[in-house]
Amino acid sequence: MKIDGVSYRSVWLDSDGWSVNIFDQTKLPWQVEVLRLTTWEQAAHAIRSMQVRGAPLIGAVAAYGVALAMRAEPGRLDEVLETLNETRPTAINLRWALDRQKAALHNLPVEARAAAAYAEAAAIADDDAETCRRIGENGLPLLREIAEKKGRVNVLTHCNAGWLATVDWGTALAPIYMAHDTGLDVKVWVDETRPRNQGAALTAFELGAHGVKHTVIADNAGGHYMQHGEVDIVIVGTDRVTRTGDVANKIGTYLKALAAQDNGVPFWVALPHSTLDMRVRDGIAEIPIEERSGAEVTDMTGRTADGRIETVRVVSAGSQAANPAFDVTPARLVTGLITERGRSAATEQGLLELYPEKA
Ligand code: MRU
Repeated sequence: MKIDGVSYRSVWLDSDGWSVNIFDQTKLPWQVEVLRLTTWEQAAHAIRSMQVRGAPLIGAVAAYGVALAMRAEPGRLDEVLETLNETRPTAINLRWALDRQKAALHNLPVEARAAAAYAEAAAIADDDAETCRRIGENGLPLLREIAEKKGRVNVLTHCNAGWLATVDWGTALAPIYMAHDTGLDVKVWVDETRPRNQGAALTAFELGAHGVKHTVIADNAGGHYMQHGEVDIVIVGTDRVTRTGDVANKIGTYLKALAAQDNGVPFWVALPHSTLDMRVRDGIAEIPIEERSGAEVTDMTGRTADGRIETVRVVSAGSQAANPAFDVTPARLVTGLITERGRSAATEQGLLELYPEKA
């Protein structure tokens, strides 16, 4: 996708052929800053500190982290895989990517590992970009159908499931980009997504850069707009989908699904194959939910009028804060899943029809 007319992916190999470039997403939308990762420890830090975030992108950067490690210390494969796997707990794409690297590398002699690890990381990145493009194609008819009836389509989304969260295109945003590109009148309600504001900071930035109409709203406003017929469809991304169709996504997604059901608004979840965790049945009981620092709730970061990025405390001194980063939306609240293989019900049967090899 593009920033100022220049096409980017969210992770790419530097022109030196071995170091790895990312955008520092903690600086967006105020500064577009490219970070060059030269060690696997820097890749681990980038994931942990959320310089990169979003389930598919975390997986791709971890895969490149393994490549950086194999270039320097090919004998430390197991330790590197374990450390990278511990950087964030909820998105299953991280382990999926590391398992792919493990399968590709563990039987190889150490001197052959670096080249194989770079090849595997590139394959994972290319696979994600193409997968997300197909998710866009498979979600587009949902938006087209509404636009044909109403003359326009209003989508609500939560968090950031655009190209900054994947390698390219995004998951939830891919159908929106395609709708815009094919001339449909599409508008997006962007949940700000406290506490880290991925909606206000990242989704709004991406949509703006692509020229898609959007309005940022407080997280609490979605239900109100649904009650007034201003939301035609909700599309969100996900960090893990269980065998039975339960969906882990950014904290607050569950409340949007409840509001959508109460108002008869379709609630769709877009995911690539790498987000499916067929070993898990009950999302609420079994998916580990990342607990992040309370400082993300007590503090807010923004840009001052004179251009400095500053963090200020918005909670009274001495108050504690809790910060679960994800919640689980039960399958019964999900209208359906949009994948690179097509759409399905959020059920075991629906998933197995799309992915029979995962039975
Ligand atoms: O904590 P984050 O920013 O990594 O959380 C990201 C989300 O919850 C996204 O909605 C999800 O990863 C889907 S990304 C295509």
